[in-house]
Amino acid sequence: MISVPEAFKKFRSRLELSEREQADASRRQKEIRAHMDGSFDIASDFLTGSYRRWTKTKPLCDVDIFCVLGLQERPYRDKPPSALLRVVEKALAEKYGEKNVKAQRRSINVLFGVAVDEEEQTNDQVMSFDVVPAFDKDDHFEIPDTDTHTGWTETDPRVHYDKALEAQKLFSGEWKGLVRMAKKWNAHHGKPIKPSFLIEVMALEVIQPPFGGDYRYELKAFFAVLADRIDEEWPDPAALGPPVSDGMDAAQQQNARAELMKASDAAARAIQLENGGRNGDALRVWRDEIFGPLFPLS
Ligand SMILES: Nc1ncnc2c1ncn2[C@@H]1O[C@H](COP(=O)(O)OP(=O)(O)OP(=O)(O)O)[C@@H](O)[C@H]1O
Ligand SMILES: [Mg+2]
Repeated sequence: MISVPEAFKKFRSRLELSEREQADASRRQKEIRAHMDGSFDIASDFLTGSYRRWTKTKPLCDVDIFCVLGLQERPYRDKPPSALLRVVEKALAEKYGEKNVKAQRRSINVLFGVAVDEEEQTNDQVMSFDVVPAFDKDDHFEIPDTDTHTGWTETDPRVHYDKALEAQKLFSGEWKGLVRMAKKWNAHHGKPIKPSFLIEVMALEVIQPPFGGDYRYELKAFFAVLADRIDEEWPDPAALGPPVSDGMDAAQQQNARAELMKASDAAARAIQLENGGRNGDALRVWRDEIFGPLFPLS
């Protein structure tokens, strides 16, 4: 049987992007760009969000692609954000089929019909993209946002990228791994924390260097502090967009807190089991109660 530290090492690497996944993401990016070019004046496109920052969890879904619109599309900026989202949705539905394409708050989700097996493997294929139509705004971007009163959100993915990189450096290269694991917990439990970007934003503040050298204790403490502070307001780290915490109401925050406390308690129990020599039971708790099938038992 594998030891708990070995299981964490394996789990950590399973949550990393593989070369084949990156190749698949790049192929999908080109395909979407080519299709968008047929319907819109696109100035540039790039992959961004947690995918670009290496804080995305697995299976790989909702990879963000910004499609920066050119001058010809500028009139959409004077209409409601839903008008732009709707035309992009329509254009993408021509290629991917109506049932696979859905307008969301700030983007259009495109499903590729990729199957996931019981072990949460996708054969290194990306399951979906979030296509984000964007306008240049000063040195950053403006994107549609149906949940804000102005209808648009300013965002600077470079600032988010730099902050994650800095946190990663200060935490001995283990900060992103920890964020991916916490996001895996979130996804496995039906996303009590919404959006999952909030986990990363909170991690920027609450994960204090240095890395103690042990994922088990770091995670137990991380879940506990997330529970403690989930009802606070968490601003955009780039100080441009609305609070990242605006996606949950009080009842959702209460639910997230309860789930986080359960996770922290389960982590404490797993550590106790392991200390009592019950390695197999400890692995089971990490897998069954916290992370799901991507956490290895062997
Ligand atoms: N409130 C906000 N203000 C400004 N920018 C934001 C805000 N929320 C999200 N963003 C930017 O948009 C990107 C995409 O948002 P998204 O919700 O997909 O988060 P993500 O970090 O990609 O996480 P996930 O792994 O869930 O996809 C974020 O990574 C961030 O750069
Ligand atoms: Mg994303």
